[in-house]
Amino acid sequence: MENNGRGTWGSRIGFILAAAGSAIGLGNIWRYPYVTGQNGGAAFVLLYLACVLVIALPILLAELSLGRHTTLNPVGAFKKLTKSKVWPLVGYLGVVTGAGILSFYLVVAGWTLGFIVRTIIPSTESFTAFVSNPWEELGYFTAFLLLTVYVVLGGVERGIERWSKLLMPALAAILFLLIIYNLTLDGAMKGVEFYLNPDFSKIHGSTFLAALGQAFFSLSLGMGTMITYGSYISKKENIPFSATAVALSDTLIAFLAGLMIFPALFAVGVEPTQGPSLVFEVLPRVFSTMPGGTLLGVLFFILLAIAALTSTVSLLEVPVAFLVDEKQWTRKKSVLVVSALVFVLGVPSALSQGYVPALGELNIFGQQDFLSLMSFLFSDLSLPLGGMFICIFVAWVWGSRNALEEIKMGTTERTISLLGIWEFLIRYVCPVVIAIILLNVFGVF
Ligand code: PFF
Repeated sequence: MENNGRGTWGSRIGFILAAAGSAIGLGNIWRYPYVTGQNGGAAFVLLYLACVLVIALPILLAELSLGRHTTLNPVGAFKKLTKSKVWPLVGYLGVVTGAGILSFYLVVAGWTLGFIVRTIIPSTESFTAFVSNPWEELGYFTAFLLLTVYVVLGGVERGIERWSKLLMPALAAILFLLIIYNLTLDGAMKGVEFYLNPDFSKIHGSTFLAALGQAFFSLSLGMGTMITYGSYISKKENIPFSATAVALSDTLIAFLAGLMIFPALFAVGVEPTQGPSLVFEVLPRVFSTMPGGTLLGVLFFILLAIAALTSTVSLLEVPVAFLVDEKQWTRKKSVLVVSALVFVLGVPSALSQGYVPALGELNIFGQQDFLSLMSFLFSDLSLPLGGMFICIFVAWVWGSRNALEEIKMGTTERTISLLGIWEFLIRYVCPVVIAIILLNVFGVF
């Protein structure tokens, strides 16, 4: 215990696994494929990769160093480094965003539990019927919330780290098996073409925001998750190394998920623009025709549920760490109060997929249902906005020189020579690019 008795990670690999556990989740396997499908395929993939490399990775370093330096939650971290009353608002935005994302994320995480059951006991009920059934929707959503609460109440090290081990290699192995099988399906090559052969005419202003929002969402950036996780790491940790390991494994899993889904999608005749139901429509059809498909399907959905759990845990951790540090609440009280709020906020998302028709026909910001609207507001807008402010704060208020001092601790000489690139990106490139993309969405240009 070296930071105010708040707890630290048990080991370096424990930290990398937990941070990768937060990053790898439904964002990679559920969200990335459908957003790629809606945005035209391969050209979007290239934009996404550029966003990860040029914007998300530098911000990941910024968040981790801010967290380690202050050993505080996002609100406390800003308060500690400036007297201004304005900057801590960025931390508050993160706390609210954490609860907002968690509310709809848990609904989809609930679907993974439902699909474990539906694969074991084959069901004739369609996906549409499944998500329109209020008891199944609310039941699985609540079950997932309770699972998350159980893990978070276990505390930092015992709770989070334990779940993160072994998961990613197993998930990657199943993805490989599925890729090989799906590539043998009739029509698979059309999917490969869609996914890997870019057609730049499909890129519009909104494509940039989708790629940026997905990069933030997938790497758990922009709301202070990585500030919070960074606050638990020791000064011996090599931040650039860990950040690169996390970004690489996260991007690899997403990339593989796309390679697995698109060939199957064209083979079973589902539209790539289908939206949030995409993987849940396609995968069961693949499992049902595949030799040994039931077993593999059950294993897949169990792993996906665990991947989602290591992410929901990190989402809940942000508001909880805030209440524990800033309001001196007990961990238990914080967890219970935040979960109750998240539950209330999540109910409309859970019922927006068919049970309450009005919640499915909103058409606000081009989003039809309540769940998609929450995802747009909190993932596509709030995360990049928060990320931009974090970047400006680290580069110009705390100062990139001070941040570099923090990052250099625990780092090797070779890495230090590369940090000039980081400083350039975080000072000039990241804030400007994010600002342009956000302004563009509001039709400023
Ligand atoms: N990165 C997670 C995923 O890809 O599923 C979702 C997420 C977790 C987003 C934590 C934001 C966050 F702070």
